[in-house]
Amino acid sequence: MTLQANWSYPTTIKFGAGRIRELADHCKSVGMARPLLVTDRALAGLPITAQALDILEAAGLGRAVFAQVDPNPNERNMAEGIAAYKAGDHDGVICFGGGSALDLGKMVALMVGQSIPVWDLEDVGDWWTRADASRIAPIIAVPTTAGTGSEVGRAGVLTNSETHKKKIIFHPKLLPAVTICDPELTIGMPKPITAGTGMDAFAHCLEAFCSPHYHPMSQGIALEGLRLVNEYLPRAYATPDDIEARAQMMSAAAMGAVAFQKGLGAIHSLSHPVGAIYGTHHARPMPWSCRWCWISTAPPSRTVWAGRRTTWVSGAVSTASAPG
Ligand SMILES: [Fe+2]
Repeated sequence: MTLQANWSYPTTIKFGAGRIRELADHCKSVGMARPLLVTDRALAGLPITAQALDILEAAGLGRAVFAQVDPNPNERNMAEGIAAYKAGDHDGVICFGGGSALDLGKMVALMVGQSIPVWDLEDVGDWWTRADASRIAPIIAVPTTAGTGSEVGRAGVLTNSETHKKKIIFHPKLLPAVTICDPELTIGMPKPITAGTGMDAFAHCLEAFCSPHYHPMSQGIALEGLRLVNEYLPRAYATPDDIEARAQMMSAAAMGAVAFQKGLGAIHSLSHPVGAIYGTHHARPMPWSCRWCWISTAPPSRTVWAGRRTTWVSGAVSTASAPG
């Protein structure tokens, strides 16, 4: 089976090895003539970033980069990014990287034309309606890890540098206009990042699957995402250039973010505050969260169905955790 496709759900997704070569075409399709590529400091010096910039430059779109992005991006990174965007008279943002770069790029696109504090757009009720939607810059997302799923999400996570609290900033127009999922971009990921981001995708699917809210579409996507991580994360970890495994993990990451519209749970409730203080990865609190949830559930409430579900998931967790 060729793992190459064009999808329109939940946004326009160009999936397949080598599709980064279409980057300039998609910039032009959404009206960008002077895009700003937002990435993180480590990625800025890697060949995959140079390749993306070469593609833009060859198409006459320049090669502008903003890379002052912390692992847990904050409002100061955002302000610097907005300043770079305005100084270069840019007309769109390419979010290129892992979760930090994707989220910060989204924040730059969102806030470059707003006059209210970003914190007023926290994902609370209808707060997103406070934004002037007409002034949000177009976004193209290019993930270089397989975990966050931010490339298909309508939110970004921003850390308040003073309070060290992470806030989810939401607006429907934060959903990228086009997402390029090219698994070749993930081949160079170090093993700890492959494992950590992969388990983040697993956590998204697991928590969505276990959420009590009614959302059968997300339920099905979460289940298949769990299966893909269970089968392909060990392969991607053991053999970094296994392009089939990298592609399936890239799918699983996007599926996790689609699925968690159903809800998240204790893992992310813990990982956001812990990560804001210690800079730890999302999936890190997963073993303790799962163990605590199981122990704290009174036996009478452990229905046969729940028991089977937990047993299945526990098996998947142990298998997928094996590499790390
Ligand atoms: Fe996460």
